[in-house]
Amino acid sequence: MCLSNTVSSLLLSILMYGVLSNAQLSSQFYSKTCPNVTVIARGVIQRASRVDVRLTAKVTRLHFHDCFVNGCDGSVLLDASPAGGVESEKGAFQNAGSLDGFEVIDDIKTAIENVCPGVVSCADILAIAAEISVSLAGGPSWDVLLGRRDGRTASRADAAAALPLAFDSLDVLSSKFSALNLDTTDLVALSGAHTFGRVQCIVMNNRLHNFSGNNGQSDPSIEPELLQTLRRQCPQGGNLTTRVNIDHTSPDSFDNDYFKNLQNNRGVIETDQILFSSTGAPTVSLVNRFAKSQRKFFRAFAKSMIKMGNARTLTGSEGEIRRDCRRVN
Ligand code: HEM
Ligand SMILES: *[C@@H]1O[C@H](CO)[C@@H](O)[C@H](O)[C@H]1NC(C)=O
Ligand SMILES: *[C@@H]1O[C@H](CO)[C@@H](O)[C@H](O)[C@H]1NC(C)=O
Ligand SMILES: *[C@@H]1O[C@H](CO)[C@@H](O)[C@H](O)[C@H]1NC(C)=O
Repeated sequence: MCLSNTVSSLLLSILMYGVLSNAQLSSQFYSKTCPNVTVIARGVIQRASRVDVRLTAKVTRLHFHDCFVNGCDGSVLLDASPAGGVESEKGAFQNAGSLDGFEVIDDIKTAIENVCPGVVSCADILAIAAEISVSLAGGPSWDVLLGRRDGRTASRADAAAALPLAFDSLDVLSSKFSALNLDTTDLVALSGAHTFGRVQCIVMNNRLHNFSGNNGQSDPSIEPELLQTLRRQCPQGGNLTTRVNIDHTSPDSFDNDYFKNLQNNRGVIETDQILFSSTGAPTVSLVNRFAKSQRKFFRAFAKSMIKMGNARTLTGSEGEIRRDCRRVN
């Protein structure tokens, strides 16, 4: 009996190890080799966000776009290097002219290399920077798991295939998230990152001016006052790269207004509104839960960020610690 208990708890540990699959990541990973890593990163982000209110949103999105493409390996940061065989992910449709914040990651990397050279990966810097950004903007804090190493490749085609699109169906969104072991709760919680940041008019153009292919028509389900605002900010024939708030209630703070907006048909991006408007889908009750309780949203968001941050990481002697986040060593 005793033996079988031991055996089964051993088996359970092995199973858990498999399920969590990143038991090597640890919040203490740099406690001896670079104890000030978070303090340094926070200083750089604080300074940069005083100049650019959107910076915390940009940085949070960078970590997401890193993890979704071949795992959290810093691949999103690599510039194209035809000679080195690196095809940048920055050219993928979902990133081009859209993804931003690379300079602040460079600044953090430089500041860290000055203190502990060759120790901290760019993939970990993204994970740390995302947590700092969310908490600086008023959102939750969490213990960031560390110990990722940087990949040596990047693929634009992989980025184009893996990253969600603003007009994906709920089924497609779910399958893109489940590729990272992220479930419906993760999908809804992580979508809550659209509580801050901006979106370009081109993303809403069809909803505002060409609904279902009817030129001049707008999506009748959009709440009228928001529709009026969006049509003024993004007029037909206007500049499609103009950026507008994603959360029209509290554009720069990390809170649960995003979910309240969805309940009121004030979702700006199509894939946000479908989480609430897909009657009968399991996402609806999750939107309601997070709209009702910011505490529950914050807790779920932190948990899902940790889960996302575990996606197919390189550890141990895999990959490398890049000296420059834009180039492989
Ligand atoms: C569910 C699928 C998702 C889709 C389809 C999606 C799509 C988009 C789109 C189209 C934009 C506007 C980009 C532009 O116009 O340049 C955007 C912005 C943003 N997304 Fe997402 N997103 C998704 C999930 C997420 C997740 C999981 C996170 C983070 C955890 C995130 C964080 C952000 C942030 C912070 C911004 C604003 C960035 C800025 O101001 O530069 N998104 N997203
Ligand atoms: C960490 O940073 C603080 C202030 O920024 C400094 O006083 C301290 O000496 C640093 N510690 C290490 C181990 O570098
Ligand atoms: C409107 O949408 C349809 C299909 O959805 C597309 O073929 C057409 O080019 C669009 N018109 C404009 C003006 O964007
Ligand atoms: C559109 O706006 C962007 C940024 O707001 C600007 O850089 C660009 O020149 C504008 N394009 C046109 C055609 O006005």
